[in-house]
Amino acid sequence: MSAYLLDRFPHEGTRMLSKDPLLRTQVGIVGAGPAGLLLARILQLNGISSIILERRSREYVLARVRAGVLEQGTVDTLVQYGAGERLQREGLPHTSVQLRWDGKRHEIPIVGDNGRRMTTYGQAKIVEDLILLREADGLPIHFDTEVTGFEGIVDRPAIHFRRNGATGTVACDFIAGCDGFLGVSRSYIRNFSEHSYLKEYPFAWFGILAEAPPCKDISGFAHSRRGLALASARSASITRHYLQVEPDFDIATMTDEQIWDELDRRFDDGSGSRLNRGPIIEKSVARLRGFVCETMQYGKLCLAGDAAHIVPPSGAKGLNLAVGDVRVLAESIRRLLKDDDSSLLARYSEICLRRIWPTVHWSCSMSEALHRFPQQSEFDTRMQYATLNAWVSTDHGRARFREATLGLPFEI
Ligand code: FAD
Ligand code: PHB
Repeated sequence: MSAYLLDRFPHEGTRMLSKDPLLRTQVGIVGAGPAGLLLARILQLNGISSIILERRSREYVLARVRAGVLEQGTVDTLVQYGAGERLQREGLPHTSVQLRWDGKRHEIPIVGDNGRRMTTYGQAKIVEDLILLREADGLPIHFDTEVTGFEGIVDRPAIHFRRNGATGTVACDFIAGCDGFLGVSRSYIRNFSEHSYLKEYPFAWFGILAEAPPCKDISGFAHSRRGLALASARSASITRHYLQVEPDFDIATMTDEQIWDELDRRFDDGSGSRLNRGPIIEKSVARLRGFVCETMQYGKLCLAGDAAHIVPPSGAKGLNLAVGDVRVLAESIRRLLKDDDSSLLARYSEICLRRIWPTVHWSCSMSEALHRFPQQSEFDTRMQYATLNAWVSTDHGRARFREATLGLPFEI
């Protein structure tokens, strides 16, 4: 690790952007989510400088609660790049997934070859680990800095930004658009909308974080006539739960007690088990959609993570996909900038899409089997039971569920 720490880029220093309208770096990264932060880390360890521009405040980014379930490849990547110390200490490994439907509980073992398994560790912690590492290496992240546009993407890229009412520009050799689904980067990919595909689901997830220990009998997914419920954990004392709600659900319409009662109703399997209750410390609502922009590269701009694709969270795959993209992107940039070799960059979209579409397919299959759709008929419900039953009761179904949950291997 110490060799990595020598790798500083003092010209990125702590200058106030508003007083310094032109900055220069090798890679301009838009967004300090998991994709942007991990990319910066891998580039740094390869001796490539970067500047991260993030429109939100540091506090906001650190407090944002989202993903929790990591594939083995994601864990291994974070460890490989020196960001896995707390993850290895505090991550909660799990070796099965519970599925409930029609009031009955089932369990599917999820252990792959060489002990491959899933780990629960909050995205907020991953983001914090990466931010602290970067700051400890003297490489600041420019928070409260909104990217407003690019120019010269094909030959001499530049990123324009706004901060505290002042504007500035980053001149760079390459731009990484890691700015999520609502970012600006995607609109700079030529003809992006002609190669983008969207599916919106008619429901959302209401997520809560609670100071309550996980219940040993209740975890995973419940299909119920009142809609999906999901029980997950963040530590021995913090739990994360989700309820399927209407897309325009208003958080203020449910008291904490009503939330717990609704979760218990959806998880009820007749055994009398109930969730452990405690103070709810965070609430948020996320729409469910699938989206893929197949053109992820144009000139010296690449998209990575949610900027290029969104999966419904039922598969727990968005962050894992982002890590897959970033691995390929970091290596593409390294070969381009160090070896003047653009051949991997030219195949960036193609390589990433080999993981993306099967993962979108799995996430959508999970969504379609587990949610209650508007105007759902009894016939539709029986079809969902048939899918769930196949995942639990047949060798082929269990193998499919296990392999899809564990995730596809990385090519790069
Ligand atoms: P983001 O995390 O969205 O980061 C993008 C960043 O860019 C943001 O910080 C944003 O503020 C910034 N930005 C945007 N526009 C600009 C601009 N113009 N200028 C500067 N900065 C900008 N995935 C999993 O793998 N496992 C899970 O268990 C899982 N659970 C989930 C549960 C829920 C409820 C949700 C909503 C998502 C879940 N996901 C999960 C998905 C995961 O959270 C996302 O895929 C992940 O955040 C993608 O990371 P990213 O860095 O690509 O994008
Ligand atoms: C989570 O712990 O936040 C979580 C778990 C499973 C999912 C999505 C999110 O499918």
